[in-house]
Amino acid sequence: MKPFKIIGMLSLVAVIALSCQRTPKVEMITISNHNGMSATFTNYGARITSLIVPASDGTFKDVVWGYDTVEEYYASSDLYCGPIVGRYGNRIGKGRFVLEGKEYFLTINDGENHLHGGSGGLSTKVWNMEKISDREVKMSILSPDGEEGYPGNVEITVYYTLNYDNSLDIKYEAVTDAPTIINLTSHAYFNLHGTSKYSTNSHILRINAAHFTPTDEGLIPTGEIASVGGTPLDFRVPTAIGERIDEVSFEPIAFAGGYDHNWVLDKEREFSLAAEVFEPSTGIVMQVWSDQPGLQFYSGNFMDGKDIGRGGDIHGYRTGIALETQNYPDAPNHPDFPSPVLRPGEVYKHLTRYSFSLNAF
Ligand code: GAL
Repeated sequence: MKPFKIIGMLSLVAVIALSCQRTPKVEMITISNHNGMSATFTNYGARITSLIVPASDGTFKDVVWGYDTVEEYYASSDLYCGPIVGRYGNRIGKGRFVLEGKEYFLTINDGENHLHGGSGGLSTKVWNMEKISDREVKMSILSPDGEEGYPGNVEITVYYTLNYDNSLDIKYEAVTDAPTIINLTSHAYFNLHGTSKYSTNSHILRINAAHFTPTDEGLIPTGEIASVGGTPLDFRVPTAIGERIDEVSFEPIAFAGGYDHNWVLDKEREFSLAAEVFEPSTGIVMQVWSDQPGLQFYSGNFMDGKDIGRGGDIHGYRTGIALETQNYPDAPNHPDFPSPVLRPGEVYKHLTRYSFSLNAF
């Protein structure tokens, strides 16, 4: 038999195998460590639903947004409450990119652009979930060739590990059978008050970045790498989020309606401290460590209070922040940005650590 016929048959078998895959049951799993810190996950979107950490008054606070039922996660999927987003987290201009001379068109789900892997992205899928130890959960999924417009059958694995030092590791791996692009990140919303009753504007934030990627009004990077110096985006010195968030005379703040930008991390791809946040009223400090080149800090500017979370907690304007470690937005269309390309034989790897303490900085 001719080689291309064998390849054709094998692809057909692969497609049939994919379409016969049974959707796993939606479940929740909790892991904990010896300090009383615990984390809960659901395989709907491989998402984190609860993260309970110690506060300075001796109580424990749930510092991520969540809901009481799985149905509520389905209903609010476009808020991206806690899932793994991808295949390309963040935006791709007009949902279009060229890879190895071929043009690809992705689902458009944010104005004229592609956001967080599209309307049927990884955050909407039911993943395989397995508790592999008391402190570790493994999520895996096969994203078929053509899903949301992306090339290649991509196998993705995400490990959530709760460490003894009160940190949560998120380790990502992916392989592909054809050249593709990838940018996976966690879209947890944090509120270190432990409730959305209080705005995250009071949090003190530090970001280890001297530069950011300016965008157009649709939040697509222009390609420029600009200095944060002298702008409301300069968080090299710890500053309350609310202090400069409404300085709309600075165009990037006006475009985003607050903070919703990609910071170019000083340490590029070295695993290092990207940012830290502190809430004075609870004493909770969260550090974000990562090997990714960018950090998207979103200050909840689109939140309108219509979404109701766990125990009736109203998800109001700026009551949750996302600190998404990732490649830069629209990198597939900017050869000067770090490459998001994954080829057969390569392994995409990404490690991010959210670390909790009561040691104010
Ligand atoms: C963020 C993004 C925001 C918004 C949000 C979801 O990651 O930066 O612009 O789309 O997700 O509401």
